[in-house]
Amino acid sequence: MADFYTIRWLETGAVSMIDQRKLPRQVIYNQYQTAEAVAGAIQDMVIRGAPAIGAAAAFGLALVPWYSKNENPDLVLGEMEEAARILRKARPTAVNLSWAVERILQLARSARAPSRAALQGLVLEEAQRIAEEDVRVNLSLGKHAQQLIPDGAVIFHHCNTGSLATVDYGTALGAIRLAHEAGKKIFVYVDETRPRLQGARLTAWELLQYGVPFKVVPDSSSGHFMRTGKVDLCIVGADRVAANGDVANKIGTYNLAVVAREHQVPFYVAVPKSTIDLATPSGDQIEIEERPPEEVTHINSCQITPDNAPVGNPAFDITPAKFVTALITEEGIVRPPYPENLAKLFS
Ligand code: MRU
Repeated sequence: MADFYTIRWLETGAVSMIDQRKLPRQVIYNQYQTAEAVAGAIQDMVIRGAPAIGAAAAFGLALVPWYSKNENPDLVLGEMEEAARILRKARPTAVNLSWAVERILQLARSARAPSRAALQGLVLEEAQRIAEEDVRVNLSLGKHAQQLIPDGAVIFHHCNTGSLATVDYGTALGAIRLAHEAGKKIFVYVDETRPRLQGARLTAWELLQYGVPFKVVPDSSSGHFMRTGKVDLCIVGADRVAANGDVANKIGTYNLAVVAREHQVPFYVAVPKSTIDLATPSGDQIEIEERPPEEVTHINSCQITPDNAPVGNPAFDITPAKFVTALITEEGIVRPPYPENLAKLFS
C-alpha cells in the first residue's frame, strides 16, 4: 500500500480524493457529497486514470441514496439514473467509468430494495467491492507482468498508471513497482506527458516514494533514447481496448508505439478486464475526449502561446493493435490475434 490514498469512502457519507491537480507541490484531500460534485471532480481531473474514475463514479452513485429526501426506493432509483447520466458524460474515453456506472445501476435495478435505506446499503457495498476488486486485479496483473520484465530492464512508461490512476497499486506502474520490489534492477524513462504532465508530476512523485530509479524525459525523446541507448520494453496503461485490440490511451502513446516498433522494442499494455470493451469493434468507434485549450496554451496559469493561437487538445489517441506486442491482464498475457484471444478471455 502507498502512504497516500487516491479515493476512499468516508463513513460520514462523503467521497474523499487526493487532489491530483495540486500534486506534487501540495497533498490535499477533497471531500464530495453529491454525484454532481464527483462528476465535476472527474471532469476537472481532481481524480483521473481509467480505473480510478470508475471507482469515483461508483462512489458518486452511492451518494444518491445516502442523501436522497425520497423514502420510496423507486424514486431514489430514478435519481440514480439521472446522476448516472451526468457521471457518464464527465469523461467519454475511459470505458471503466460507464462500466462501473452500469454495474451499480444493474444491481440497484434488479435488487428491488424495499426501502431507501436498503438501497443505500447495497449500492455502497457494491461500490466498495468495485474499489477492492481494483486493488486485487492490479496486483494480479502486476504478477503476470513479471514474466515480461527481465532483471536489469530499462523501461519506457507514458502518463501515470500507478496508485493515483487506480484505487491502489496501479496497472503498468504497479507492474514496474512489483519488479522493483522483487529485487530486479530496473530503470524507468518517465515520459513527462504533456499537456497535463501526469508523468512529470504524478509518476515521478510515486516512483520517488517507491524508490524506483527513473528519469523524467520529454515526450519527444523516446526516439532518441531508443536509437542511442538501451530500452528493453515499453509498458503503458489504457483507457479502453477495443475488441480488435486497438488501444485508446493518453495522447502520445501511439507515437511511442511506432518508435518502439521501429526499434524492435516490445510494447506492452497493462489493463484490467474492465478496460476491455468487446462492444466496441475497433479504435475508430472510440470517442476521443477533446479537452480545454488552456491545458495547451498555459502551464501553471502562465500563458506560453501567443494570444488567440488556435489549439488542438485531444486527450487520448488510438494505437492500432498491430503495434501492441501483448496485453497484460489479471488473468494472464494476451497476444495476437486479439479478436480471437480477447473473445476467449471473456468466454
Ligand atoms: O487523462 P488521464 O490522466 O485520465 O489519462 C490516464 C491515462 O491515459 C492512463 O494511461 C490510463 O487511464 C490507464 S491508468 C491505469
